[in-house]
Amino acid sequence: MQIKVLFICLGNICRSPLAQSTLTYLAQTRGLADCLYINSAATSREEIGNPPHRGTVTKLRQEGIPLIPHRAVQMTKADYVEYDYLIGMDSANIRNMTRIAGGDPEHKIYKLLSFAGSDRDVADPWYTGDFDATYRDVVAGCEGLLDELFGPKYKE
Ligand code: 4NP
Repeated sequence: MQIKVLFICLGNICRSPLAQSTLTYLAQTRGLADCLYINSAATSREEIGNPPHRGTVTKLRQEGIPLIPHRAVQMTKADYVEYDYLIGMDSANIRNMTRIAGGDPEHKIYKLLSFAGSDRDVADPWYTGDFDATYRDVVAGCEGLLDELFGPKYKE
């Protein structure tokens, strides 16, 4: 049985597709690819149908991480039923996700950096232009999530 993870941000073109591709890659490097089903969505309708932002594509290429093809979609109430983990990037995402889901009775909604032991938001590179800082946060959150789900990876 796969654990189903949905990453969510405002537009679904910068941060959540970055997290989708990054977690897919990190899971593969740990031999866990088959254990996860990973997707991403937006809280807004702004970018529906659009591919990942050029900054996300460029950063992934720089890091040698394959881009998972994706077109922006908006999160639905049905996603709350389908997914085990709905992971937002910032506090505004969490508020909007909770509104779309009609609450969080099953405690499935998380902020990404909580898996890295932080209350911080993942800054939105749509506004900051800093895809490097966003990538560092995304990796920290994804590594923490994998540690929590499957146990810490072996470190020399
Ligand atoms: P994202 O960034 O939430 O990380 O995908 C944004 C993308 C688009 C917009 C805002 C944030 N927008 O307003 O269109």
